[in-house]
Amino acid sequence: MNVLEDKVRQKDIQQFQSDLITWFEREQRILPWREDQDPYKVWVSEVMLQQTRVETVIPYFLRFVKQFPTVEALADADEEKVLKAWEGLGYYSRVRNLQSAVKEVKQQYGGVVPSEEKEFGGLKGVGPYTKGAVLSIAYNKPIPAVDGNVMRVMSRILSIWDDIAKPKTRTVFEEAVRVFISKEKPSEFNQGLMELGAIICTPKSPSCLLCPVQRHCSAFAEGTERELPVKSKKKKPGIKTMAAIVLTDDDGQVYIHKRPSKGLLANLWEFPNLETQKGMKTEREQLTAFLESDFGIQAEISDLQGVVEHVFTHLVWNISVFFGKVKQVSDAAELKKVTKEELEEFAFPVSHQKIWKMAVEAAGVYNSAAR
Ligand code: ADE
Repeated sequence: MNVLEDKVRQKDIQQFQSDLITWFEREQRILPWREDQDPYKVWVSEVMLQQTRVETVIPYFLRFVKQFPTVEALADADEEKVLKAWEGLGYYSRVRNLQSAVKEVKQQYGGVVPSEEKEFGGLKGVGPYTKGAVLSIAYNKPIPAVDGNVMRVMSRILSIWDDIAKPKTRTVFEEAVRVFISKEKPSEFNQGLMELGAIICTPKSPSCLLCPVQRHCSAFAEGTERELPVKSKKKKPGIKTMAAIVLTDDDGQVYIHKRPSKGLLANLWEFPNLETQKGMKTEREQLTAFLESDFGIQAEISDLQGVVEHVFTHLVWNISVFFGKVKQVSDAAELKKVTKEELEEFAFPVSHQKIWKMAVEAAGVYNSAAR
């Protein structure tokens, strides 16, 4: 018998299930995706909830399912509109994959989200967590749904000291949950673990005295709840220094650029920008050379207007912001010229939304700066 099996067997699994589920049924938060079990809506919510907090997700979820209420509606939607609805949530490949996957559901499965592990798990972007969460919540299948919160809870319950920052550790927890999960109420069981992680078994100071499964918890018994889970520190993110410019022409129209279809923030829109180098040339000079070489644009460029910082998982963008007035253009095919009203229809990363906000708040400044 391996160590994990041994630890699991020492627990009163039925009592654990009943304590957790009774508590969840009584204490669960009222959340919009809990109002019905529509598999499509559960799926949307679970995709949004990866990497994003519940409070942030709620308004996005409500807007998204209003705009795209069914698998068909999302499958048939314009990508531009879908990205716009996701604007600000980050990790945009999540929604691109979701749209590819619902297209497949429409074509292959007649618009019905498949309930079999193999079929649902084979869809684009559906990893082990999403598979377990959606199939357990919407279809009551006893499949583990292990994310960071569930690993924290279970590491404490079972006193598991494996490093949860390592990808393969998740399978250790899946094995444990597979044994623990209620076969009668897998939906309430999995959501109970998530809820416990969110409101009781929190990272820094867990509320053990209020915990419905305290009597099953090895870490509580040993006084190690603040040491668990073990999570090694990630490398410090790299810093990229950039300069971006809000460029307008004499009519006040704005030049925007579509990012490539692959990679970070794919297909989102942005203001013209470049990575800058420390050295002989000022940022303003580098920006001038970039506009000339890439777009054949000559512009009057303002002084530095401010700096926008955006932190990604492995990367920090440090963007110096300038405003400018176009004087001459020879080859701006790579750019799109839009009115300020039209600009609102395009999806921008949060960093570039902040740049636009600076420009709006300073309205007139870049007009007069450019003289
Ligand atoms: N975190 C991940 N999935 C969740 C859900 N369905 N409800 C609340 N928090 C969650």
